[in-house]
Amino acid sequence: MRYLTAPAVALVLTTALAAQTGSGEKAAIAATPAAVTASKEDPAAVERGGKLFATNCAKCHGATAKGLTGKDNTDLVRSLYVLEDEKGILLTPPIKNGRPDKGMPPSNLTDAEIRDVAAWLRVQAYGAGHRTTYTFLDVLTGDAKKGEAYFNGAGKCNTCHSPTGDLKGVGSRYTPQQLQGRWLSPGGRGGRGAAGGSGPSRSQRTVAVTLPGGQTVSGPLDRIDDFNVAMHDSNGAYRSFTRNGDIPKVVITDPMKAHVDLLRTYTDADIHNVTAYLVTLK
Ligand code: HEC
Ligand code: HEC
Repeated sequence: MRYLTAPAVALVLTTALAAQTGSGEKAAIAATPAAVTASKEDPAAVERGGKLFATNCAKCHGATAKGLTGKDNTDLVRSLYVLEDEKGILLTPPIKNGRPDKGMPPSNLTDAEIRDVAAWLRVQAYGAGHRTTYTFLDVLTGDAKKGEAYFNGAGKCNTCHSPTGDLKGVGSRYTPQQLQGRWLSPGGRGGRGAAGGSGPSRSQRTVAVTLPGGQTVSGPLDRIDDFNVAMHDSNGAYRSFTRNGDIPKVVITDPMKAHVDLLRTYTDADIHNVTAYLVTLK
């Protein structure tokens, strides 16, 4: 994650909060100069993208792209399509083709317009992500006891982890900031993790590709989009397959999927409390 200094965080945060209360037409407000500068996106592109989003997308994805109900997959600020996007490359297929079976119509935005929307979306994701960065600043204000209760209760962290097993000593291995990054960064892409403690690396995702003839090739996922899937097979050889809808069949196993799913459920208090608890695991 690209961490901000305290004053910048405060600005982005205020911006994001102000934007949440806005209506569809005000979506562009979420991209104030402070947030745009901090996110390093091109201000002109962001402004155009915000307008395009307000007209074309906000009614289904919410004014600030945080989704409408939280239960219908319309939250884009935590979508991997946005978090992992560069220059609209990942976002283009879902926007152009839509998800007709799921209620999203194809869009006729041009490539340039999609790049603008992508720039605006990354600013929203940035603002939302820095809710997390903000909590780093007072990471120790959390209640470790409540964090422990969440770990063993609602968070179900103990179904995969043990404070005396795999997580023993995490409080000594990482700074509180890094530690928080370890469990909150779903992508773990260099840029999202490098400065503050990388999330588990993406290379841990594996993929199984079943060809029309029935043969299955599986191994570590290199990259995937709506058109191609690339991987290393069991011999370590690089393999790339063209995708055409459901052919070939592709099944991704992401060891961090639980974390990605959980990310949608944490409250700010959970984040504070769990990190405060993890810090005590010396
Ligand atoms: C009529 C409603 C509607 C409109 C308009 C719409 N979407 Fe969607 N969109 C959806 C729904 C519903 C989904 C969730 C589909 C699913 O469950 O896979 C979705 C999914 C997506 C996804 C994939 C998210 C993911 O993580 O799988 C992206 C990206 C996206 N929309 C971007 C946009 C953008 C950008 C626009 C405007 C250009 C837009 N959408 C317009 C309803 C809409
Ligand atoms: C379904 C299983 C699962 C659940 C549930 C789960 N995790 Fe994880 N967690 C993982 C996996 C897999 C990794 C990656 C392990 C690795 O990189 O060696 C991981 C990594 C971590 C790490 C980084 C550990 C390190 O040494 O770098 C932390 C911290 C962590 N999880 C905390 C949590 C917390 C807190 C919760 C509950 C809110 C939670 N996890 C829920 C599977 C899970």
